[in-house]
Amino acid sequence: MKFSINVPVFIVFILLYLSYAVFFQFNHLTQPFYSFSKCGDVRAENHVRFLLTRLLRGRDLEEVNKNGISCVNRLPSVFCVTTGDVRIKTGARPIVFLSAGQQFSNGTTFSIKPYPRQNDEAAMVNTMSIDIVSHVESNNGIPMCDVVHVDPAIVFSTGGYSGNFFHAINDLIMPLFITTSDFKSRIQFVIADYAPYWIKKFSQILSQLSAHDVVVASSSYFPVRSRVHCFPGAIVGFKYHDTLNINSSDAPGDLNIMDFRHFLHQSLSLKNAPITPVAGKKPIMVIIARRKSRSLLNENEVAHLGSEVGFDVRLAPPSRLKNVTEFSQLVNSCSVMVGVVGAGLTNLVFLPKNAVVVQIVPLQLNWDARVCYGKNPSEKFGLRYLEYHVRLEESSFYTQYSKDHPVISDPNSIKRQGYPAFKAVYLDGQNVTVDISRFKHTLLQAYKEVVSVNRSMTS
Ligand SMILES: *[C@@H]1O[C@H](CO)[C@@H](O)[C@H](O)[C@H]1NC(C)=O
Ligand SMILES: *[C@@H]1O[C@H](CO)[C@@H](O)[C@H](O)[C@H]1NC(C)=O
Ligand SMILES: *[C@@H]1O[C@H](CO)[C@@H](O)[C@H](O)[C@H]1NC(C)=O
Ligand SMILES: *[C@@H]1O[C@H](CO)[C@@H](O)[C@H](O)[C@H]1NC(C)=O
Ligand SMILES: *[C@@H]1O[C@H](CO)[C@@H](O)[C@H](O)[C@H]1NC(C)=O
Repeated sequence: MKFSINVPVFIVFILLYLSYAVFFQFNHLTQPFYSFSKCGDVRAENHVRFLLTRLLRGRDLEEVNKNGISCVNRLPSVFCVTTGDVRIKTGARPIVFLSAGQQFSNGTTFSIKPYPRQNDEAAMVNTMSIDIVSHVESNNGIPMCDVVHVDPAIVFSTGGYSGNFFHAINDLIMPLFITTSDFKSRIQFVIADYAPYWIKKFSQILSQLSAHDVVVASSSYFPVRSRVHCFPGAIVGFKYHDTLNINSSDAPGDLNIMDFRHFLHQSLSLKNAPITPVAGKKPIMVIIARRKSRSLLNENEVAHLGSEVGFDVRLAPPSRLKNVTEFSQLVNSCSVMVGVVGAGLTNLVFLPKNAVVVQIVPLQLNWDARVCYGKNPSEKFGLRYLEYHVRLEESSFYTQYSKDHPVISDPNSIKRQGYPAFKAVYLDGQNVTVDISRFKHTLLQAYKEVVSVNRSMTS
């Protein structure tokens, strides 16, 4: 390629640069300066460096300052941060080349599956390993850049359990928020195990975190061309704060779960309807319906009961939950969400504040109900929570097993066989038919909670 300098264009450039500089001078006291930093100038570089190193503390921070790269390998987080240039080769086997002489404190290569849940074998089977190789290892075989990017990269995988809504939120959207929100969209997503439907499904949320089109590192959906993308720094993997948790004392600091909620609601333009009944309108109750397992077999009766109690009832089958943009709007207009233990309940993140979550808990699923799906998440997201415990006669076990079968008489013997055995029986092999007269008390309680909320609280 041949370059010639076009003098008028050059002058315009200088003027533009000067106006930026002047603008910056006047604004730096009141505005964060990333809004004004532009490609390549020293301030922008320092700022990128600052944002990258914010993810590290103590020895890890010392290490990145000394070596240009630091890899954290302590659960729940496994990730690397480099403040120097990297070249990422896409294709069947993506590789991250450290092209600015960065050295690992130990060895010349680090392999990482860029997804949380590092000790979860099933999740890791669906996640590809990415090699990060130092100058020494690549033996000067660092490839030339095909595409040069101005912002740093975050490399992660949409394999794992991304297809499950709880995991999509907990394993990907939330760690992405923790790891990248400080970059104010000036970060480039580089995605391994790229799942096109997943990116489309969450595009409205993802586009709030990165201003750029995604770079596909690898995919099992289509062949990925081998190209070399160059970046001024990178994060490989996530800073992860563990299950549905954001620890404001931990790096990068100053983020909490309500920030995350606010981020989700803003991304999806949710307006947060008042949850109390307003003039002539009944409060809306959504039933998250499941079909294959933990199915509420008398969901129509429950819907009817809801109307009788005073709700405007919406029965949401799994197909309804697929479009996040649409379904989050419905959830955001609801006062009550009802459902059996399961990932669909994670849609509670879209409820207006003080709404009521009613979780129906089948036999032996108290842990799941508390940690993953209803109880703890409701508390964290500022919601109220009611729990309905299924009795043996309401569980499909009642007809599936005799009373002295270990599944009923000795659940611990099933637990001792390991999680897959437990899951097969209690999570995948159980349906529910709630006792309508008993469940009525729970729905009446939910209704009472809804009408008692003072509207001024529901901003
Ligand atoms: C260095 O790396 C090797 C293998 O890559 C690993 O087994 C060892 O534990 C590491 N040592 C330290 C001190 O991190
Ligand atoms: C939050 O992070 C800080 C700093 O890393 C740590 O000391 C503290 O134990 C964490 N708190 C929880 C509840 O995990
Ligand atoms: C979801 O629904 C919205 C509004 O109806 C529509 O514009 C959008 O294309 C749908 N998204 C997907 C991924 O189907
Ligand atoms: C649970 O219900 C679904 C239908 O909703 C059915 O396909 C499945 O076989 C049932 N499972 C059991 C264990 O009865
Ligand atoms: C809500 O509270 C405000 C003052 O805190 C009060 O003026 C108002 O009457 C209350 N509304 C309801 C519906 O209780």
